[in-house]
Order: sequence, then C-alpha cells, then structure tokens
Amino acid sequence: MGSLSGRRIVLGVTGSIAAYKSAHVVRELVKSGAEVRVVMTPGAKEFITPLTLGTLSGHPVHSELTEDRNAGTWTDHVELGLWGDVILVAPVTAHTMAGMAEGRGDNLLLTVLLSAKCPVVIAPAMDRDMFTHAATAHNMDTLRERGVHIIDPDTGELASGLSGKGRMAEPERIRTELTQWFTDRMPLLGYHALITSGPTHEPIDAVRFIGNRSSGRQGSAIALELARRGMSVDFISGPSAFQTDHPGIRRVDVGTALEMQDAARAALESTPPDTIVGTAAVADFRPSSPREGKASKSELPDQLALTRNPDILADLNAHAPTACFKVGFALAHGDGKEAALRKLKAKLCDMVVLNSITDKGAGFGHTTNRVDFVHGPDRIDSFELKTKEAVAADLADVIQHRLSARPPLAPRQDD
Ligand code: C5P
Repeated sequence: MGSLSGRRIVLGVTGSIAAYKSAHVVRELVKSGAEVRVVMTPGAKEFITPLTLGTLSGHPVHSELTEDRNAGTWTDHVELGLWGDVILVAPVTAHTMAGMAEGRGDNLLLTVLLSAKCPVVIAPAMDRDMFTHAATAHNMDTLRERGVHIIDPDTGELASGLSGKGRMAEPERIRTELTQWFTDRMPLLGYHALITSGPTHEPIDAVRFIGNRSSGRQGSAIALELARRGMSVDFISGPSAFQTDHPGIRRVDVGTALEMQDAARAALESTPPDTIVGTAAVADFRPSSPREGKASKSELPDQLALTRNPDILADLNAHAPTACFKVGFALAHGDGKEAALRKLKAKLCDMVVLNSITDKGAGFGHTTNRVDFVHGPDRIDSFELKTKEAVAADLADVIQHRLSARPPLAPRQDD
C-alpha cells in the first residue's frame, strides 16, 4: 500500500516564513487519506492563522499548553503524542530543532514531542547561514542519532534574499518522502495481531501451582516486532517478567489457561485479527479441585485429580476469519517434524514454528532459539540458531509477506 490512507499524522508547524506552505502540506496529506491534527508554536501563528490550518485539516488547531486559562483546562499533549502514527514538523526552525535536541518543553509542540512514543519526521526551513551553522549541524546530528528522519531542504532562493540550501522541501516532496518512509518503517500499519504468550499457572491451592518453564521471551519479542512494523497487537500473557511497552500493544495479563482462553476469545470478538500467533506454553492439565487458601501438607492428597485444559489456539483458529494467518508453536523433544505437521492440521494452523529442546540453546529459558517454519509436508524452512528477537523478525517477515497481499480485515479502531 503506497498511500497515506488511514495514517494519523500530528503536524507541527513552527515560526518560519515557510509556515505558509504548511497549508499545502495539510492539503497534500489529507488528499492522500491521512488524518491530520495540527499543533502550532506561538511563532507559527505570526505567519499563518490557526483558522486556515484548522479548516484544511478539519480539526481544531492546538497551540497553547493551557486551553482555557479561566476554566483551568490544559491541552493533553500526552494524548496527542499517543494518537499519532508519526509527528511531522514542517517547517521546523533552527530554534525548535535546538529545543528538541536539548529536550526543552517550553511550548505545546515541544511537550508533545517529548511525551510522544511515535517516530518523528522533520522538514527544516531556514536561512542558508543558519542551516550551515555548526550548532544547527550538531543539533541535526543529535536528532538523527535519536532516530528522527530529516527531509532535506531544497537549494534555491531564500526569504533572506540569499541563495543556497535551507528552503523547506516542497509539500509534494514531503508527502512522497513521508509515504516512502511509512512503507519502509511501518509496512504493517492497519493490520491487527492476536498473540498468546508465556506459561500458564494452574492453582493447586493459593500458593502452589502446576506450570512450566516458559519465560514469555519469544512471545514478547514477536509482539514488539509486529508492533514496531505498525501492527496493533492484542497480547494475552501468562505470568512473565518480560515488558512489552509499546503504544501498539494492548496487553492482558492472565494466570490460568481458562483465563487466557477468556481473554483471547474476548480479543478475537472485539477485533478480527489478521494473524494469530500462539506462542503460549499452555499447561495441558489443571487440578480439578483447587483449594482456597493454603492447604497444609497433610490436607493435600497423594494424587491430584486433573482436568484437561482446552486447546486455546485450536479454538481461536476455528473462530477466526479464513483470511487470518494462523501460526502455532510446537516444542519437540527430538526431530518433531511429524508432530509439527500433525499440529498444523489438528489446530487449523497455516504454519507451525517448530523448536526442539534437544537443540543446544533452543527453547525455554534461553535467549536464543533454533526453529523450523513448517508450512506443510513440502515446505519446511530451517533456520540457524539465533536470538529470539531475530526469530521474531523472521516470523514477522513471513507474516508481512502474507498480509501485504491483501488489505487489513478490520478498519482501525478509534481508541
Ligand atoms: O499441543 P501442543 O501444546 O504441543 O501445541 C502447541 C501449540 O498450541 C502452541 O502454539 C500453543 O500456544 C498452543 N496451545 C494452546 N492451548 C493448549 C495447548 C497448546 O493454545 N491448551
């Protein structure tokens, strides 16, 4: 998908003469299907009115930290930063770049930039000598190192009467570069994933449980990788210490297999996923009659009656849309290919990620994994031992390849 359709763009406008061009920037972005919210610095309002940009974007323009001094309300800069898929500052002045590099928060735009979790793209505009000044060059290097993408200014006639580099890129080029940047950085924006992860703990009483050695590292790495590529992710996690902080990840922490099933079903019903990835090591059985409180040793029976847990992945896959790409995991002792092929069918998966505890460095508790992607009897792709993050990237490549051939199943939710 080469357009900006559905992309959420926070457009920052700062006090450069090029601010008049931001009206064209808004029009270009809106014409391409993007949703635009404008934040202006006080300086920008000297060059173009909020009314113009508000009318073109279709939304009120924000420029003050305090919305209504008398009512004591303030502009929620955190919310704005979280709303955007990207913050584009066009034009960005040498002054705002210096503020960004220093981490200052003395106007609304700078506070939005400071609290935002999304990537930032800037289109500098200034006089030639300001642009080539060592301080500006240093600030741009700092911002680049932090991952800010800079749309190079044009060379030509400048407002100062000088000629040289410093003219803000034309709005059409800003739109094209931004589109390309989205395609490269967030190819899966608009798509949705449902992931189960970690172990489950099945209580014997209030302190004892049946569980397994899954840490949740592989599932967390997959959730983060898919979210970085733009996906929204419902992440249903059993007890795990791994963090999955990302604005695209909606995490639900659960304890038991039954809780995991309830949470995963609720997620499936609320948003049809484009992919389901079952990385969870669900306990196969649960104690049939867990006790309340802590049972004393003498109260515990010599043999525990167990009940088989439901197969969460098979159940999700049976209820998921046909177009959803369904991935299961299989942890084998030994070769495991036959078992993986059986699971592929039994659990209605499109692919099973097979790993073997007999491979050195693979499986539970390791930072590395060695996997085979089992698509069917005639297609098994084997990989080297690599970090779980690298395995997550390989899996995300397969998911991306499958999904980019069709549009997302659900329109984006306005959360
Ligand atoms: O049958 P087995 O446990 O080996 O299958 C592993 C795959 O099935 C994993 O993707 C796992 O998340 C999923 N599974 C599940 N619910 C279960 C058992 C396994 O979702 N009760």
